[in-house]
Amino acid sequence: MVTNLTITQARPDEVKPKPDESALGFGKHFSDHMFTMRYTQGVGWHDLEIKKYQDFSLAPSAMCLHYGQAIFEGMKAFRGANNQIFLFRPKDNLQRMNVSANRMCMAEIDVNQVLEAMKELLRLDQEWVPRAPGATLYIRPFMIATEDALGVRPSKEYLFSIILSPVGAYYPEGFNPVKIYVSDTYVRAVRGGVGSVKTAGNYAASIKAAMEAQALGYTQVLWLDAIERRYVEEVGTMNIFFKINGKLVTPPLNGSILPGITRDSAIQLAKDWGLEVQERQIAIDEVVEANTSGALEEVFGTGTAAVISPVGSLFYKGHTITLNQGRTGALSQKMFDVLQGIQYGQHPDTHGWLEPLCE
Ligand SMILES: Cc1ncc(COP(=O)(O)O)c(C=O)c1O
Repeated sequence: MVTNLTITQARPDEVKPKPDESALGFGKHFSDHMFTMRYTQGVGWHDLEIKKYQDFSLAPSAMCLHYGQAIFEGMKAFRGANNQIFLFRPKDNLQRMNVSANRMCMAEIDVNQVLEAMKELLRLDQEWVPRAPGATLYIRPFMIATEDALGVRPSKEYLFSIILSPVGAYYPEGFNPVKIYVSDTYVRAVRGGVGSVKTAGNYAASIKAAMEAQALGYTQVLWLDAIERRYVEEVGTMNIFFKINGKLVTPPLNGSILPGITRDSAIQLAKDWGLEVQERQIAIDEVVEANTSGALEEVFGTGTAAVISPVGSLFYKGHTITLNQGRTGALSQKMFDVLQGIQYGQHPDTHGWLEPLCE
């Protein structure tokens, strides 16, 4: 139980009809309720509320609108056997939110208190956790600076909220490799900047490259390091892994990429299976050469949305590089099956990653 949490349920006439689970897409529908709390410097977090999903009112001078103090997280609730609902490593997401808050000079949250409030919200809106295979309830915690003042400095007031959105299976037509565009024009983040935290501006800055890649028929952008444009960083909203000569290689957490929770889970599972995992710099030229020599066995991305996304080809400097003959590799498939199996409570959770939502 969360102390000081006020719950005001939507009236029966305010409850929304559930969307068709076969056409959920991503981020189009929102559940009946939301969680909010406010922060005031000198007071701390207050006014913890679960209430019907509704608009915020903000001053035109609210600091988030001008100086970009805005952070968020993304995680999912899964409906397993016997209608049991599971969360996957939720504390890791909330702890990462505090790392983001710290970097952006925003107020940190009490992870246990917010997790309990999130569970209350999920219990109230549990009918919104989809039943269709692969469909999930996406959970979006976020925080914005709300003080009505101009001037570049930390806001003295914040709004924290959690909203819920039922989302469709990421692979409705099957688990197919994606085509990725390697950007050597735009960069995403630089060491010492904010690339390693989930702040809104990182995503705003990535849209132009993503649009240009999509116009050429590519699903996502692979970012290279901002200084030499040489070392692989990450892909859109995923971290990236290469299997080379039987070893799993992934870029290190060097301060410009997001420390993905799926990345960490994939590393731990790979080690469980006896694979050598190298967290090290990997140049795009090394990837191209390893592919030419046959040493590159497979490439996959990791992230909450897709879990695992096999990469079938890379487009770099005018050339298409086909990977693993454009097919899903055995390790990508196993990683996907095991991780998704754990998330739905169907596979042994040997690391204690799963958190059941108790009644
Ligand atoms: C930039 C970026 N990289 C990587 C990831 C993957 O992180 P996670 O596995 O925690 O979803 C995400 C998604 O949150 C992201 O936005």
